[in-house]
Amino acid sequence: MRKKIVAGNWKMNNDFNQAISLVNELKRMDTFKDVSVMISPAFPFLKTALDLLENSNIEVISQNVHQNQKGAFTGEISVEMLKSIGVNKTIIGHSERRAYFNENDSVLLEKVTLALSNNLDVIFCFGEELLDRKSNNHFQVVKNQLQNTVLNLDKHLWSKIVLAYEPVWAIGTGETATPEQAQEMHEFIRKCILESYDKTTSENVSILYGGSVKPSNANEIFIKKDVDGGLIGGASLDAKDFHLIIKANSSL
Ligand code: PGA
Repeated sequence: MRKKIVAGNWKMNNDFNQAISLVNELKRMDTFKDVSVMISPAFPFLKTALDLLENSNIEVISQNVHQNQKGAFTGEISVEMLKSIGVNKTIIGHSERRAYFNENDSVLLEKVTLALSNNLDVIFCFGEELLDRKSNNHFQVVKNQLQNTVLNLDKHLWSKIVLAYEPVWAIGTGETATPEQAQEMHEFIRKCILESYDKTTSENVSILYGGSVKPSNANEIFIKKDVDGGLIGGASLDAKDFHLIIKANSSL
């Protein structure tokens, strides 16, 4: 059975004190047993967040990781570094990494492969741009992104993968895909996985929606049958909003 997940991507926001108070605020809030909660602070704060959340059920994950094991890659962070402080999951392929840091499908496949072979689980992001949708090309673009990356992986690795469909036109724009648009794409994604693997694999993978999810629209999106939760940017920086979004994904 796939999991319901709400993950907060803090991006390049919060200084140390702000990060600590947000973590502490989240720690004090009620939990919902049927929703896995994750937060992704910036690299310098990961260890502190892990320590503060040690006995909680909020998981601390990374926003990115490098595709090489180690070496002369100034400014980069390796799988081993993350694992050595206790991080067990990373986001890979966020549209901002693709757009501003030229991460293409082949680099992303290298990243995913290295992470998974070292037991660093992955939230893999992908999604079409506005032009793709306007030209009615969005399904093909998404299929290509998947075929060039995660659909090349061995079937047994799929238990370590969560997908995050994030239409680029909806990220940080205040514009959200309609629940119907999200559902139709998530269903299509499951079909792509079914074609490459089997029903169990396609039914067991959690597929998150990302792009301007907020307390006011979370429930109508999460209630759709192929949407298992969300990857939340802006609204994850506010503890109350993030908590309402987690609650919106719970059936308890
Ligand atoms: P947003 O970001 O919620 O601010 O649109 C989502 C994301 O980038 O993961």
